[in-house]
Amino acid sequence: MKISKICCIGAGYVGGPTMAVIAQQCPDLIVTVVDLNKDRINAWNNPDLSKLPIYEPGLSAIVNDCRGRNLFFSNDVDKAIFESEMIFMAVNTPTKTYGEGKGMAADLTYVEKCARQIAKVSKNDKIVVEKSTLPVRTAETIKSILSSNGNKIKFEVLSNPEFLAEGTAIQDLYKSDRVLIGGDQTKSGKIAVKALVDIYLNWVNIEKIVTTNLWSSELSKLVSNAFLAQRISSINSISALCEVTGADIQDVSIAVGKDSRIGHKFLNASVGFGGSCFQKDILNLVYLCQYYGLHEVASYWKGVIDINDYQKSRFTNIIISSLFKTVNNKNITFFGWAFKKDTNDSRESAAIYICDKLIEEGSNIFVYDPKVSKSKIESDLINLWESKQFSSSEVKRRLKKVTVCNSSEDAIKKSHAIVVLTEWDEFKYLDFEKIYINMEKPSFIFDGRKILDKIKLEKIGFKCYEIGKSELL
Ligand code: NAD
Ligand code: UGA
Repeated sequence: MKISKICCIGAGYVGGPTMAVIAQQCPDLIVTVVDLNKDRINAWNNPDLSKLPIYEPGLSAIVNDCRGRNLFFSNDVDKAIFESEMIFMAVNTPTKTYGEGKGMAADLTYVEKCARQIAKVSKNDKIVVEKSTLPVRTAETIKSILSSNGNKIKFEVLSNPEFLAEGTAIQDLYKSDRVLIGGDQTKSGKIAVKALVDIYLNWVNIEKIVTTNLWSSELSKLVSNAFLAQRISSINSISALCEVTGADIQDVSIAVGKDSRIGHKFLNASVGFGGSCFQKDILNLVYLCQYYGLHEVASYWKGVIDINDYQKSRFTNIIISSLFKTVNNKNITFFGWAFKKDTNDSRESAAIYICDKLIEEGSNIFVYDPKVSKSKIESDLINLWESKQFSSSEVKRRLKKVTVCNSSEDAIKKSHAIVVLTEWDEFKYLDFEKIYINMEKPSFIFDGRKILDKIKLEKIGFKCYEIGKSELL
C-alpha cells in the first residue's frame, strides 16, 4: 500500500517540525498540516520565515524548501481529512484541570474531537496515527469512536509516538534513536504498519524502526519520558546533598556517568526540568498506576515530580536567604524564560514558578529571553495567577512588577541579583565586568544552569551561587 497524501491535525511543536521533515524526506508525498488556530496557521504561512510560530534551529530552512511544494498549512481540517489516506493526530493532551483525574490524568478532549471529526468527514478507508502522547489503551477509545460513524469505512489505528526534544527537534527527527510504531496484529493492521514504516524508510534505517502492539507503543512513550525525567530528579536530589557536604555535582555527574551502564547524558543538575511533557506525562503515568491499583508504583514515580518541585523551591529560597532574607522591592534579573535553550517554548518553565514566588515576596522582576515574547511571558504569569483565582486587579498589580526587556543590558540596570534560568549560549559570553558596574552592590548571581564561570565572576566581585556547588570549601 503506497501512501500519497497525509495530513496532520495539530500544527504545534510536534505537528509542525515532524511534518516538515517528512515532507522534505518524502518529496512524492503531499503533506498538509491543519489546525483550528488561525493565527498559528497564518504564522506557518508567513513569507517572513523569522515569524514562524515555532523557533527551532533548522526548521525555517526546511519550511522554505518544502512549503507550497509538498508541504501545506491550512485551517481547512475537513478538507485535509477527506483527501488524506493517512491522518496523524498531534493535538495537545494537557493534564486535566477538572473532574475525575483533575491535576493528574491526560485531558483527551482534543483527541476525541479529532476522532469524531475524522469519523464524520471520511468517505473512504483511512489509517489514523496517534502522534500525541496518550495514556495506554487510548487507541481503544479512538477505534470505538471511529467505528461508530455508521458507514462501512474501515479505519486502522496506529501508535507512533514522537521522541523529539525541543531545541534539537530537526536533528532528532533526522537521526532518531528509534521510530516506534504500534499496530494491531491483524492482517490489515500489519498492512497499515508497513505503510507507515515505508514512509520512515525514506530516511531512517530499518534497524531503528521498532514495531510493537498498540499498547506497548503507547506505554513506551510515557515510560521513556518518565525515565528521562527520573535521571534529572536523581541528579538534582544529589545536588542538594553536594551543597551541604563539599562534593561538587559536576564531579559526581561525570564520575557516575562514566559507568557505561549508566551513561553521561541527562545528568545535568538544574533549577528543575520544565517543558510541556515531563510533568504531564509522569502525572498521567501515576494516575494510570493508581487506576490499576498499583499504589506503590504510583508513589515511586510521583517522587520524580516531588523532587522537581523541591528543586525549584529550594533554589528560590536560596535566592531569598542570600539576599539578606528579604527581596521586597529588590530588582531581580532573569536571564532566560524558556524551559531550555534554542526554543521559544516556556510551558512549565521553572522561571514561571520562581518569578511567582519572588513576586509574592515583593520583588521587581526584569526578564530577558532571546526568543520568548513579552506576550508569552505575561500570559504564562496571568494563567498561573488566574488558576490561583486571584482577582483581575491583583493580577494587574502583580504584572506591573514584571518588566520584559529587549536585551540583557536593559535587564540588569540597578539590579540586585541575576538569576540564570535558561542555558542560552549568549549568556556565557556577556561582559560581566560591565554588568557588575551597572548593578546594585553587593551584586549576586544565582546560576541555575551551571553555565557561568563562578571563579571568574567572584574575582569581578559578584557573590555567586551555583547549583550543586558547596560554599564550604
Ligand atoms: P501544541 O499545543 O504545540 O500543539 C497542538 C495543536 O493542536 C495546537 O495548535 C491546537 O490548536 C491544535 N488542535 C487541538 N485540537 C485540535 C483540533 N480538534 N483540530 C485541529 N487542531 C487542533 O502541542 P505539542 O507540543 O505539539 O504536543 C502535541 C502532542 O505531542 C502532545 O500530546 C505532547 O505530549 C506530544 N509531544 C510533544 C513534544 C514536544 O516536544 N512538544 C514531543 C513529543 C511528544
Ligand atoms: C523531552 C524528551 O527529551 C523528548 O524525548 C520527548 O519527546 C519530549 O520531552 C516530549 O515528549 O515532549 P523536551 O522536553 O523538549 O523533550 O526537552 P529535554 O531536552 O528533555 O528537556 C526537558 C527539561 O529537562 C528542560 O527543562 C531541560 O533543561 C531539563 N534538563 C534536561 C535538565 O535539567 N537536565 C538534563 O540533564 C537534561
